[in-house]
Amino acid sequence: MQNLNIGFIGGGNMAEALIAGLTAAGHAPECVWVTDISKERLDALQAQYGVGVCADIAEVLSASDVVVLAVKPQQIDGVLQKFGELGAEKTVISIAAGISAKHIALTLGNDAAVVRVMPNTPCLVGEGMSVLYSQAGKIHCERAEYVLAASGQTAWVEDEQQMHAVTAVSGSGPAYFFLLAELMQAAGQSLGLSRELSEKLVGQTALGAARMLTESGKSAELLRQQVTSPGGTTQAALEAMFEGHLPDAVRSAIAAAAKRSRELG
Ligand SMILES: NC(=O)c1ccc[n+]([C@@H]2O[C@H](COP(=O)([O-])OP(=O)(O)OC[C@H]3O[C@@H](n4cnc5c(N)ncnc54)[C@H](OP(=O)(O)O)[C@@H]3O)[C@@H](O)[C@H]2O)c1
Repeated sequence: MQNLNIGFIGGGNMAEALIAGLTAAGHAPECVWVTDISKERLDALQAQYGVGVCADIAEVLSASDVVVLAVKPQQIDGVLQKFGELGAEKTVISIAAGISAKHIALTLGNDAAVVRVMPNTPCLVGEGMSVLYSQAGKIHCERAEYVLAASGQTAWVEDEQQMHAVTAVSGSGPAYFFLLAELMQAAGQSLGLSRELSEKLVGQTALGAARMLTESGKSAELLRQQVTSPGGTTQAALEAMFEGHLPDAVRSAIAAAAKRSRELG
């Protein structure tokens, strides 16, 4: 796969995260192609990663076996209209939130091999969570898995409707943790810690908790119980969170995100 030609339409944040992951994982940069409206953006990507830049969408399509649609959802239809006849050999990966694989396949023609992906921003640091859905053949699914696995973990869903829940949990999820971090940092400062120290305490605590969650094999509930001594400080904090209806707030927040995803789709 390391010499597969992979083209990106749109060279923004998510495209850069995926390019960084691929090149760091040993994918030949001369087999990565990018086009973007901004020439400065293309120059910057070429200078940093050694990738090839293309003047337009047609050039990316002719250079690539795999084409990643990495523009904003509202720009997808305009991009697809420039595709022309594509054929069944090329893999089209869309990371656009809310745009169904069926919509893309119908626009491109019935034999188009489309893989829909919901990544998240931790792809930028190689710790992304990307969820994939496709009805295309095995080779196309393997190619998409290869592209996304370079920037973090992957999982597949068989029912595209589940992409709404995925968007609400992992797509938007980093923002929930960032909000909690903001609130914890501010609370630390209000108790007299310096901003610098409070940020360090919260960042490292988040990293440590995330590693325990993903590496210990224990559930979040068990890990929580294990750090909560009866009558201790953690129990006092958690009781205050339950009294403040945190579980209800999280449930309705994630339901609201899934509802918004359905509306956008
Ligand atoms: N960021 C996330 O957390 C996240 C998570 C999951 C999925 N996604 C999806 O990832 C996609 C990309 O998001 P992003 O944050 O990387 O967006 P972005 O930074 O705005 O990148 C998109 C880039 O594509 C360029 N572009 C627009 N139309 C083009 C065209 N016709 N030809 C070539 N380039 C074109 C844009 O240029 P202009 O700026 O000039 O328009 C921009 O540089 C979105 O569909 C989003 O839904 C993002």
